[in-house]
Amino acid sequence: MRSYKAKMVETISLPSREKREAILDEAGYNAFNIPAEHVYIDLLTDSGTGTMSDEQWAALFRGDESYAGSTSFAKLREAVEDVMGFPHVVPTHQGRGAENVLYGCLVDEGDIVLNNAHFDTTRAHVANQGADPVDCPIEGAKDPSVDGPFKGDFSVERAREIVADVGADAIPVVVLTITNNSTAGQPVSVENTREVADFAAEIDATFVVDACRFAENAYFVQQREAEFDGSSIADIVREQLSYADAVTMSGKKEALVNIGGFAAMHDAELFEAAKQRAILYEGFPTYGGMAGRDIEAMAVGLREAVEPPYVEERVQQVQELGEMLEAEGVPVYKPVGGHAVYLDAGQLFSQLPREQFPGQVLVCELYREGGVRAVELGSFAFPGANRLELVRLAVPRRTYSREHLEHVAETAGAVADRSEYVTGLEITGEPPVPELRHFSATLRPV
Ligand code: F0G
Repeated sequence: MRSYKAKMVETISLPSREKREAILDEAGYNAFNIPAEHVYIDLLTDSGTGTMSDEQWAALFRGDESYAGSTSFAKLREAVEDVMGFPHVVPTHQGRGAENVLYGCLVDEGDIVLNNAHFDTTRAHVANQGADPVDCPIEGAKDPSVDGPFKGDFSVERAREIVADVGADAIPVVVLTITNNSTAGQPVSVENTREVADFAAEIDATFVVDACRFAENAYFVQQREAEFDGSSIADIVREQLSYADAVTMSGKKEALVNIGGFAAMHDAELFEAAKQRAILYEGFPTYGGMAGRDIEAMAVGLREAVEPPYVEERVQQVQELGEMLEAEGVPVYKPVGGHAVYLDAGQLFSQLPREQFPGQVLVCELYREGGVRAVELGSFAFPGANRLELVRLAVPRRTYSREHLEHVAETAGAVADRSEYVTGLEITGEPPVPELRHFSATLRPV
């Protein structure tokens, strides 16, 4: 059941097969180069691509554009305190702005930052401080066939080994990313959050939660962690975040807006330092790189994210897509995460060597077959890393219907049916920074 209906529509269309072939060729077999008007179902990301509610659109009109002391900021501050429990908020233009502000204050050259798994921008901001980002996933996290309720958890055991190696003084920050985007959108339990908080306190590190998808995570906790059976999403969110010293947030995810973010914290001294850095990189601390109207909509969205039935419907839609894809015989990372279904292209195209980018081949085949856009998270995006050849189908919030997702599953099913005849790709041009190559490199069929 859906608890919302459309009030505004955007026309989409599926270009002809010939046109899709030509577009793919022109785009250098890189989905980032495909103009959005030629995409039928866009599952490139769930970031900033969702649909705002009528209350959020109404909030846009109420936005206060004052440079200093904006009333919209006061509403955001209240929403962050009510929903997440933090008294101090520094608004930023998006999540990575919050990472820059916070890690710029907490991390120095030569430090080590631990995380269950760093998202790309988190890793980049830690590295930008001259520090070393180290992942501490639990065993089995990278294995798509291992079942488990909280495969996003942080391995405190692994973290202790690192402490034994480098010493506690080298680790100023411990981060927990909920849900864990770099591990197929898997959730993190409250029990694990408590353990990580204790560990961080023990080594005198600041405990930061990357809270981008905090409500989805709370939904999994409600469903899978016995202690929280029957608890509300709002209560679980408050409980889980109560253990953190600070959060970084991308409003483009579960503040249900198209742009925006913030860092929030308990400590007044850290708040002062973050504000100073925000002035340098983001803007005055009551707007932080956003228009007042965007802040106003974010304050509303943050509250909507913990109101039933938003998150149940959201996560269930992603689960349904996973089930439909499996029914079509497409290999899916299990269990399915909160914001996206991850496909195992390495398994689907077992005839293709890593050097021919099976994940990117699948991305291209999904577009060729049905105008569906996905993103590769395998050896094309992460050169040199020994990773699974995953392709992410991220579902924008409150945007697509079951029919749209049926089209996606049928498209992937048709590709799976002819998987053995599919051939590989090779790179024809790439930018100088290897970490960013998947955004702009061009390829051609081998
Ligand atoms: N942390 C996580 C876990 C994320 O998934 C993202 C963004 C960020 C931080 C950065 O936030 O984009 O607002 O600057 N993830 C998007 C994605 C881009 O497609 O998964 P941002």
